[in-house]
Amino acid sequence: MLSVQEGLQAGYSNMFNLNEKVAIVTGARRGMGRTHALLLAQAEAKVVVSDIDLKECEQVVAEIKKAGGEAIAVKCDVTNKKDIDNMVAKTVEQFGKIDILVNNAGICQFKPFIDLTDDDWDKTIDINLRGYYWCAKAVVPEMIKQKYGRIINIASIAAGQVGVGFQGLTHYCASKGGIVAFTEALALELAPYNITVNAIAPGVIDTPMAASIKTDPKAYEASMARIPLKRMGKPEEVSGLVVFLASDESSYITGDFIVADGGYLST
Ligand SMILES: NC(=O)c1ccc[n+]([C@@H]2O[C@H](COP(=O)([O-])OP(=O)(O)OC[C@H]3O[C@@H](n4cnc5c(N)ncnc54)[C@H](O)[C@@H]3O)[C@@H](O)[C@H]2O)c1
Repeated sequence: MLSVQEGLQAGYSNMFNLNEKVAIVTGARRGMGRTHALLLAQAEAKVVVSDIDLKECEQVVAEIKKAGGEAIAVKCDVTNKKDIDNMVAKTVEQFGKIDILVNNAGICQFKPFIDLTDDDWDKTIDINLRGYYWCAKAVVPEMIKQKYGRIINIASIAAGQVGVGFQGLTHYCASKGGIVAFTEALALELAPYNITVNAIAPGVIDTPMAASIKTDPKAYEASMARIPLKRMGKPEEVSGLVVFLASDESSYITGDFIVADGGYLST
């Protein structure tokens, strides 16, 4: 990080710059993962765009390249260990290292608890929680080698501990609460290696995942009643936090949980 004097001389132009940094974003073909990838690339990181659909990842890579950035697309289902190992190997082969992991891939299925099946539960936990564990486990050896790393886990305001429950989302809430606990514990263990681990809790963000809220007037009204800013968040309003946590400017933040929710949890 620059000293204050160096920063003043540089006009702080280097703040949040990720030049020479290599970032993996999971679930990056669309929604917030896509904007995380685009904004990381805009900050000059080399980005690995991964998701279950390679063609859609390639489209995001094309957008990045068109804007002068550097990126590759890798197909990776986070419930498949072989895919994750391949993603890590391809990243190291192409860019030589891994500095940043954005664990973002997730699903959100609204289903009342009494109708929930074991398969529903397992699918959500496998993608939303075990997927984060597997991806972190796969990149940490590379980060330890260089004594530097940033792991950013996308949780949710539906992660518990805030006195707010979410109807029809027991399995989702359990997975997101697990992510926050995982983040706090992992931060302790990786601090000696200069690897920070933080969680971001988005509120209601305008992505395909939240489409059902947008199209259901009752659900939309109920959400707006809870949100002081009276609108859904834009994906890039969360991606700005990702870039901050990925940058050297966040070097003293670890084991934390940062909320971007338009005030939802304040009401
Ligand atoms: N949209 C919201 O309101 C909101 C709020 C809080 C948290 N989140 C979280 O933000 C993250 C991104 O969600 P989004 O809103 O952009 O939704 P989205 O549905 O647009 O994106 C999720 C992405 O994850 C990918 N994915 C799903 N299963 C996968 C798997 N097995 N392997 C790899 N990728 C997989 C999907 O293909 C998709 O591209 C998720 O973790 C979600 O839980 C979203």
